[in-house]
Amino acid sequence: MAISLNEMKKRVVSGIRPTGKLHLGNLHGALENWKKLQDEHECFFFIADLHALTSEYQDSAPIKGYIQDILIDWLSAGLDPDRCTIFIQSKVPEHTQLHVIFSMITPLPWLERNPTYKEQQQELIDRDLNTYGFLGYPVLQAADILIYKAQIVPVGVDQLPHLELTREIARRFNYLYRPIFPLPEPFLTEMPKLLGIDRRKMSKSYNNAIYLSDSPEVIKEKVGRMFTDASRLRRSDPGNPDICNVFSFHRFYTPIEIVENIKTDCPLAKIGCVECKRILAKNLIKGLSSYRKRRQYYLKHLRDLDDVLQSGISYARKEAQATLEEVKEAVNI
Ligand code: TRP
Ligand code: SF4
Repeated sequence: MAISLNEMKKRVVSGIRPTGKLHLGNLHGALENWKKLQDEHECFFFIADLHALTSEYQDSAPIKGYIQDILIDWLSAGLDPDRCTIFIQSKVPEHTQLHVIFSMITPLPWLERNPTYKEQQQELIDRDLNTYGFLGYPVLQAADILIYKAQIVPVGVDQLPHLELTREIARRFNYLYRPIFPLPEPFLTEMPKLLGIDRRKMSKSYNNAIYLSDSPEVIKEKVGRMFTDASRLRRSDPGNPDICNVFSFHRFYTPIEIVENIKTDCPLAKIGCVECKRILAKNLIKGLSSYRKRRQYYLKHLRDLDDVLQSGISYARKEAQATLEEVKEAVNI
């Protein structure tokens, strides 16, 4: 018997913390994958503002602006509210209710040995992360995922420990009460193919990112500052595109014939880095132009964002409430 598309459709949940605008690393990492998933599965994509608060609670004012930036970035980059559910975590209070229930059954050592917890505490030394909420970060994340009974969670490798904890919490709940939750599988969003302009991982905190919302002038300026093949000091030195960051950007944005030319000309010193970067800046600006137009549109039609959110929140709440009812019954409250 043929399986209908609906039966093959899986539940997908993923979120992003509103701690900055989206950059090209996010676009080619997470977002391109999400866009494919929205055609194949039932997707819930949300902005994890409560998770942002776990580390930004002392300076929470910018969160609202980042939420708006990310929403505009998502819609402009092609997430389609007719094909996926888009919402804000704190507007679906069922997440926090499930979080409290999960916090009852989550053994402290599971959280204390979470590698992300230890790492972040060491890395973000400018703030006090010795809080109850920060320790419980993965418990809230488990609630985000399990409240929709998600089967697939697209995330980067750094999130694998959190996903493992989600599975452990689901397993423990199912064992203690009744088997309500599926054990969600991670779906690895590929390694970032684009590095920051200084060749480190593209990240807001390294100040090396090209943002989707950057203007043509800013793009030109940033491309101009990009690291190239470090051993190519003079125009007459041969270069090696394989280790050049500018070249990896060309692969995404420049027409293939021109990329081929650069590939042959650079090692012969027939093209200089200044020229090469000029070509890249031109194509990058062109490649992002339709995105930029849609962004302009949304900036003038902020009401559209409210509409998207309202319908997203209302559908998400309906689904979340159904799970929460089941959970409450199972735990006898
Ligand atoms: N912790 C994730 C991150 O920093 C964000 C997140 C919160 C998330 N809740 C989630 C991701 C649920 C996937 C599913 O990237
Ligand atoms: Fe890189 Fe282009 Fe310079 Fe070659 S010419 S080293 S590919 S920037």
